[in-house]
Amino acid sequence: MTREMTRAESPMGTTPGYMPGFGNDFETEALPGALPRGQNSPQKCNYGLYAEQLSGTAFTAPRGQNERSWCYRIRPSVKHTGRFEKIDMPWWRSAPNIDPDLISLGQYRWDPVPYTDAPLTFVTGMRTMTTAGDVNTQTGMAAHIYLANNSMEDEYFYSADGELLVVPQEGLLRFHTELGTIDLAPKEIAIIPRGLVYRVEVVEGPARGFVCENYGQKFDLPNRGPIGANCLANPRDFLTPVAAFEDREVPSTVTIKWCGQFHQTKIGHSPLDVVAWHGNYAPVKYDLTTYSPVGAILFDHPDPSIFTVLTAPSGQEGTANIDFVLFRERWMVAENTFRPPWYHKNVMSELMGNIYGQYDAKPKGFVPGGVSLHNCMLPHGPDAPAFEGASNAELAPVKLDNTMSFMFETRFPQHLTAFAAKEAPLQDDYISCWDGIEKKFDGTPGEK
Ligand SMILES: [Fe+2]
Repeated sequence: MTREMTRAESPMGTTPGYMPGFGNDFETEALPGALPRGQNSPQKCNYGLYAEQLSGTAFTAPRGQNERSWCYRIRPSVKHTGRFEKIDMPWWRSAPNIDPDLISLGQYRWDPVPYTDAPLTFVTGMRTMTTAGDVNTQTGMAAHIYLANNSMEDEYFYSADGELLVVPQEGLLRFHTELGTIDLAPKEIAIIPRGLVYRVEVVEGPARGFVCENYGQKFDLPNRGPIGANCLANPRDFLTPVAAFEDREVPSTVTIKWCGQFHQTKIGHSPLDVVAWHGNYAPVKYDLTTYSPVGAILFDHPDPSIFTVLTAPSGQEGTANIDFVLFRERWMVAENTFRPPWYHKNVMSELMGNIYGQYDAKPKGFVPGGVSLHNCMLPHGPDAPAFEGASNAELAPVKLDNTMSFMFETRFPQHLTAFAAKEAPLQDDYISCWDGIEKKFDGTPGEK
């Protein structure tokens, strides 16, 4: 299979197999007439299908947040479960996961988690780096790295614990979901909703990437405030797949993540049997190269929230459960300004990943596939070379090119897993990147 064109590369306004829009009310059918017209639950559905509602929010959520989809399927979902057995998934951890023997307080950075020869699927290859909040109270998140070299065949998965924001770094994945098929390449992201059943095919592997598991309220587009009606992530660049289904009767397993534990059930057919659906609770993908950054055009450096792609509210206004923030190619033009991110301590906890290229605050050491963590109220900022370079640079307009990093920023402290602390390639010398910062103050005025 050749890689499909991304949204930004597509010569047409639409992409085959997808419907544009964020949070739209969609309707789609894989067979003509499968979708009832004018009602949700007719006495008998066409083709002998079963009508079933998938609710992503409480029935009584406010209209602007209320999300649900009506599915017309070969079997109702209850036929896709049987007796559950608990299974081990030792690398995929959930909050609270506070190991008293580990120190989460610190500035941390990791090299890319290396591939292995062991057969790993998108699910069994999930390696949790940090957890925050509490999965049982639907607050907080977990940050994962996935390594996948094997497709899920007759193996299906869903999570009741949260939606997954998937950020590929290498390899091509195909998500076969109940509501349609999403192809996902680096520079794109996908959101797989809570409760949606899917299997993941590795189209080109091995595949590695980052995942933010959002236990809380769903990701939404941020308000733009005075920016107005355009720029940042635009709704038309989000793509939801058209209906697609499998009518396959073979021994299959369904694995369910529920309250941090994994359960497996055996069934005799594919659960991806939704022939038609309508509604606004659906998977979506987005091409990060369509993100239109807004920034400083005269002086000073805005807060990184200016680069928010998606935000998951926490219930406290302006304080996100998670912000997904993108640092991509852009022009730097500010006058008389220290242009990289300033030094800071932040009540929010910041986990960053590098998709490709070089990040401007850390010219070395933060490599594609790598991760850094700057936890709640832990100081951080440019390393010594970045500080000296930016302090002495001629402030001509400069294009930051070939760079794409992101941040999962949460209001909750992030706790390291044992994997992150002991097995992932932690850079022991990361803290030394600030060693070269000198005291310049000597009591006399003037630039130093
Ligand atoms: Fe920061």
